Amino acid sequence: MNIKYEVVPEDSIGCIRDLCNGLMAYQKSVAYIHPEFFDSMCFETRMLPAVKSSKANYIAMAKDGDEPVGYAYSTIAPKRTYSGGFATLQCPAFFDFDSVEGEDVGCLSQFFIKEEYRNKGIGSVMFDMSMKWLGSFKEIKDIFIFVSNGNDGALRFYQDKGFKVSHEILDGFITVMRNS
Ligand SMILES: CC(C)(COP(=O)(O)OP(=O)(O)OC[C@H]1O[C@@H](n2cnc3c(N)ncnc32)[C@H](O)[C@@H]1OP(=O)(O)O)[C@@H](O)C(=O)NCCC(=O)NCCS
Repeated sequence: MNIKYEVVPEDSIGCIRDLCNGLMAYQKSVAYIHPEFFDSMCFETRMLPAVKSSKANYIAMAKDGDEPVGYAYSTIAPKRTYSGGFATLQCPAFFDFDSVEGEDVGCLSQFFIKEEYRNKGIGSVMFDMSMKWLGSFKEIKDIFIFVSNGNDGALRFYQDKGFKVSHEILDGFITVMRNS
């Protein structure tokens, strides 16, 4: 195993396609509340629109040789982006906008390591890369992570890294985590 980390330029995000679709399949496989919501989610409906609507994007990728084996996708976006829709779903606001200082929020939006590469520290490296990038926006105080139901491993991972569970939305389909 020869793991290297790189930052993917926005015009090359096609290389993330299979990993993004792997994340959707993983999330569906562990979900017990509305797993069918994932049926309409894929690289084209999740990643491409998010990259377009965000003010800034950061895609960290781990490669084993030439093979992409994981990615972490972070965004800076207006908080009102989260007002009434999530990918292909319609829903209420994700969080109380008044609880956020300023107009923009940071988000660790997608995170996936291929199964055989998990628990080797790769996720921690990409988490740190992502937090460093998000932290470089000095005016952004609030960082969110939205975890779909059934993904207790990810919840624990983020809690270990200092994130806290805030509340649930969409009947428990998503748990909202935040840094403060
Ligand atoms: C969540 C996820 C991204 C974490 O990535 P990861 O590479 O498995 O994470 P790490 O290996 O850095 O850390 C996981 C555990 O391995 C341990 N670990 C870290 N370095 C290690 C090493 N060198 N060797 C063995 N274990 C190690 C960590 O301590 C951690 O244990 P803990 O959770 O008890 O603290 C990954 O598990 C994943 O892709 N899961 C499926 C998709 C998913 O849930 N995505 C999140 C959507 S919100």
